[in-house]
Amino acid sequence: MSEIEIYPVPKDLAAKAHMDAAGYEAARKAARETPDAYWSNAAKRLDWMTFPTKIKDVSFNKADFRIKWFEDGVLNVSANCIDRHLPARKDEVAIIWEGDEPTDSEHVTYGQLHDRVSRLSNVLKSSGVKKGDRVTIYMPMIPEAAYAMLACARIGAVHSVIFGGFSPDSIAGRIEDCQSTFVITANEGCRGGKRVPLKANVDKALEKVSVEKVLVLRHTDTATPMAEGRDIDWQTAVDAASPDCPPEPMGAEDPLFILYTSGSTGKPKGVLHTTGGYLLWASWTHEHVFDYRAGEVFWCTADVGWVTGHSYAVYGPLANAATTLFFEGIPNYPTVSRFWDVVDKHKVNIFYTAPTAIRALMKDGDDPVKSSSRASLRLLGTVGEPINPEAWRWYHEVVGNGKLPIVDTWWQTETGGILISPLPGATDLKPGSATKPLPGIELEIVDADGQVLEGVTEGNLCITDSWPGQMRTVYGDDARFFETYFSTYKGKYFTGDGCRRDEDGYYWITGRVDDVINVSGHRMGTAEVESALVLHHDVAEAAVVGFPHDIKGQGIYAYVTLNADVMPSEELRRALIAQVRNEIGPIAAPDVIQWAPALPKTRSGKIMRRILRKIAENEIGALGDTSTLADPSVVDDLVKNRAAAK
Ligand code: WT7
Repeated sequence: MSEIEIYPVPKDLAAKAHMDAAGYEAARKAARETPDAYWSNAAKRLDWMTFPTKIKDVSFNKADFRIKWFEDGVLNVSANCIDRHLPARKDEVAIIWEGDEPTDSEHVTYGQLHDRVSRLSNVLKSSGVKKGDRVTIYMPMIPEAAYAMLACARIGAVHSVIFGGFSPDSIAGRIEDCQSTFVITANEGCRGGKRVPLKANVDKALEKVSVEKVLVLRHTDTATPMAEGRDIDWQTAVDAASPDCPPEPMGAEDPLFILYTSGSTGKPKGVLHTTGGYLLWASWTHEHVFDYRAGEVFWCTADVGWVTGHSYAVYGPLANAATTLFFEGIPNYPTVSRFWDVVDKHKVNIFYTAPTAIRALMKDGDDPVKSSSRASLRLLGTVGEPINPEAWRWYHEVVGNGKLPIVDTWWQTETGGILISPLPGATDLKPGSATKPLPGIELEIVDADGQVLEGVTEGNLCITDSWPGQMRTVYGDDARFFETYFSTYKGKYFTGDGCRRDEDGYYWITGRVDDVINVSGHRMGTAEVESALVLHHDVAEAAVVGFPHDIKGQGIYAYVTLNADVMPSEELRRALIAQVRNEIGPIAAPDVIQWAPALPKTRSGKIMRRILRKIAENEIGALGDTSTLADPSVVDDLVKNRAAAK
C-alpha cells in the first residue's frame, strides 16, 4: 500500500501530549505484563468510595466464563462526573447546548449541573424508581438528556437510551425486553427546522406495553396531551424537588446502562455496561485519545442515543471535568457551514464526527468550510465506519488546514469505548487506518477456521483478553452473550469485523464480515429489516444486503419476492419502505428494492447472500461458483432485472 502517505506526529504535540511514543510502548508493556498493577494505578483517576483491591477477574472460556473488573470497589458515576469537580470548577461550563436554530444556545456550569441532576434524581425517587430499576430515555440532544442519564446513575437506576429516530414499535420492544417501568421523554425534538414527535411516539409505544410513569419535558411550545395519573410534567416536578440527593454507593460491577444494538440474527441485543470499568475506560480514552487538556471545549457530534454519545458526549468528558458540546440540529441546517459556524461560535478545540458526515459535507466543496475561521480547533476525530482516504485527506486539508491530526477511532457498542486509535502525540497517521491498539488491547487476526495469522495479513478481528470497558452481558441472556461473541473462536472475543494488518503493524478495518450492515455509521441487522418486510401481507420472502453508498458508506438493498398473485408496483414499493420505517425507524428504510421472482438458494434451502451482495454491488463478473444452487437460472433473472431496481 505504498500510495498511502504517512503523517508524522507533530513535534510540539509529542512534547505536550499525555502520552508520547515511548510512553505508549511502556504502557502497552505494563498493561500486558502486569495488568492488575497497571489498571489499579489507572483506577486512581476516579473517585472511589471504596478503592478496589480485586482488579481483574476474567475468563473467556465456557467452563469458567466471567468478566469482572474492580469487583470490590464502590463508587458513583454521577458523583464522578459532577460532585468531585465542584470544589475547583463549580462555575466552569460542563455542557454547552447549541439548538437546531443558530439563535438558541445555553451554557450549563458544573454547579448548575449538580442542582439539576440532584433535583431530577429526587423526582425519580419520589416517583418510585429504585436502585436497579430500568428507566427508558427517549430525548432530543439537549442537556436534559444528560441530566436524565446522570440522575439514573446517581440513584443506581439502569438507563436504556433509545435514539429519537426509532419507531414506536422499536420503543415498545426495548421497554418490554428490559421490563422498564419508567420513561423520560420530551414533547418534541427539533432537527433541521422540523419537529420530531417524541411524546406521540412514546404514547403509541405504550399502547403495546405499559409502564408506571412517563416524565415529560416541554422542550418546544407545542402542547402535548398528558395521560392523567401516568404522565408527569418535568418542570413542575423538578421545581418542587429538593436539590439535595446524596449519590448512591454502587458496586463497580453494578449495571450502569443498557443500550440496544443490532446483530446478525434476532432482535436487537441489550448490551449491558457496568459502573467502574466502563467509567474508567470512557474517562481514560477520552483523555488519551483526544489528548484532552483542562479548559478545552470538546464536541462529539453523536446523539446520546448511540454509544458514542454515551461515552464521548456524556461520561468520558464529564468524568474529566471537560466542557462538552451538545448539538440538537443537523450538519446542513440552516446552511452546510453549520458545523464550522458552531466551532467558531463556541471556540471548539476538539471535534469528533462520523465519516458519513464528512463525505456529505465534502460534496458541497471547500467554500462552506473556508468561510469559517476554525482557529480554535486543535484535533479532529472520526468514528463509526472505515474512512476512505479521500475523505480523510479532505478533512485534514480543508477542515484542519493541513495541520490538525485526525484520530480514526475503532470501537463498538460492546467495547464501551475506543480500542484501536492513534494517540495524537505518539502515533504517525495513515489515512484510512485506525492504526494501533490502545494499552491493554490484545488483538489477533484469524482465518475462518480460527487459525491465528501472523505478520502482514488479512482476516477476522478478535480480541484475546478483556479490558475494563468491555460489555458484561446481553441483558437477561447470558447464554446469548457467550454464543454471540465467544463461541466462534474459542477463548476469544470476536468483533464481527474483517481487518488487515500492514508491514508497520497498523490495523485497517475492512468492514463487517457478518450479516450486519453499517449505514451512516449506524449498525443495522439485515435480519431485522427482512422481518419488517415479510410482515407485509403481499411479501413471501425478503433478503437484505449492504451495497457501497457514496455518502452512507453502505446502503440497504432489499430483494423481495411477492406472493404468487401479487404484481409489483410503485405503490407497493412505497408501502414496503413505509412498513420498515414504521417497524424499525427511518434509518432502516431500504435504499433499493429489487423484485425477485425467486432468491438464489442452496439445495438445502439456504439463501446465498454472497451472490446477492455481488449483484447489489454490480459485480456481475464476480459472482463466483453458482453450481451449488438449487436453480442457477434464478441468478440470471436477478442480474437481468437489476437495472430496473430502485
Ligand atoms: C461497528 C460498531 C463505536 C461507535 C460507533 C459504532 C464499525 C466503528 C470504526 C472505524 C472502521 C468502524 C465496525 C464496528 N466501526 N468505528 N473507526 N473504522 N469501522 O458503534 O454501532 O456498535 O458499530 O462500527 O464495523 O464493528 P456500533
